[in-house]
Amino acid sequence: MSATAPTWDPAQYLRHAGHRARPFADLLARVPDLPAGPAAKPPRVADLGCGPGNVTTLLAGRWPTARVTGYDNSAEMLARAEEHAGPTPGGGRLDFAHADARTWTPAEPHDLIISNATLQWVPGHVERFADWIAALRPGGTFAFQVPGNFDAPSHRLMRDLAGSPRWGDRLAGTLRHDDAVLAPGAYLERLAGLGCTADVWETTYLHLLTGDDPVLDWVKGTGLRPVLTALDDDSEARDAFVEEYRTALREAYPPGRHGTPFPFRRVFAVARKEG
Ligand SMILES: C[S@@+](CC[C@H](N)C(=O)[O-])C[C@H]1O[C@@H](n2cnc3c(N)ncnc32)[C@H](O)[C@@H]1O
Repeated sequence: MSATAPTWDPAQYLRHAGHRARPFADLLARVPDLPAGPAAKPPRVADLGCGPGNVTTLLAGRWPTARVTGYDNSAEMLARAEEHAGPTPGGGRLDFAHADARTWTPAEPHDLIISNATLQWVPGHVERFADWIAALRPGGTFAFQVPGNFDAPSHRLMRDLAGSPRWGDRLAGTLRHDDAVLAPGAYLERLAGLGCTADVWETTYLHLLTGDDPVLDWVKGTGLRPVLTALDDDSEARDAFVEEYRTALREAYPPGRHGTPFPFRRVFAVARKEG
């Protein structure tokens, strides 16, 4: 079986919205001021893989007059994001549209193209960087964040189970591996090679999760989606997989006195085009 394009569940994804928004805020904090465009032109901003749109609203907060568009290829996520669409208090506008990052190329010059926790779902995404940077105004920025946790127990256990004799026939090839993202140095090399001033770093967050089986609850909104989608037509099999995975996760992520610590490595890049 080839890799499954997952069906997204915005409500499940948003159950950990506070923790998930933190890397976006940290990325945004490193994005420099946008180039001063022609006086009559508000900044043009794209959020690629905007999901349910809650973090896209932070862009309108930072650039109140901007025209911000969130793009996604999930109908479920876009329907949820639409709740945030409309004029913004600063006189700008926030809207959402369907687009596939594998082929999306801006139809007009942009001041900022940003993408949070999305490009790991886009095989060969580095090959798109040249087109996106070419679409930036001089002095514009391309910024992204991707998880760097494909070797963490949460993902390794999921892959091991999916490849086990019980599940291998049905789930082989369903899940992504650590080649879904590049090493920080490789991103730096690529962005600098495209003529940008590049700032690349990594952080490991220690999310302190609460409730029962919180790591399972987290990945049900993201990394586990390809499995849940592949077994969607067989609820018995889906529940059996989840139970086996739950047991493995309980051992890997025991609750502590204050909650369940969930280490999560992420890689960030901010690339400014020559002004
Ligand atoms: C983990 S969510 C991140 C959502 C949002 N950026 C955030 O930070 O909360 C990943 C998003 O990427 C979208 N996505 C995955 N592959 C995509 C593609 N090829 N083109 C556009 N969006 C894609 C998914 O539909 C999903 O909404």
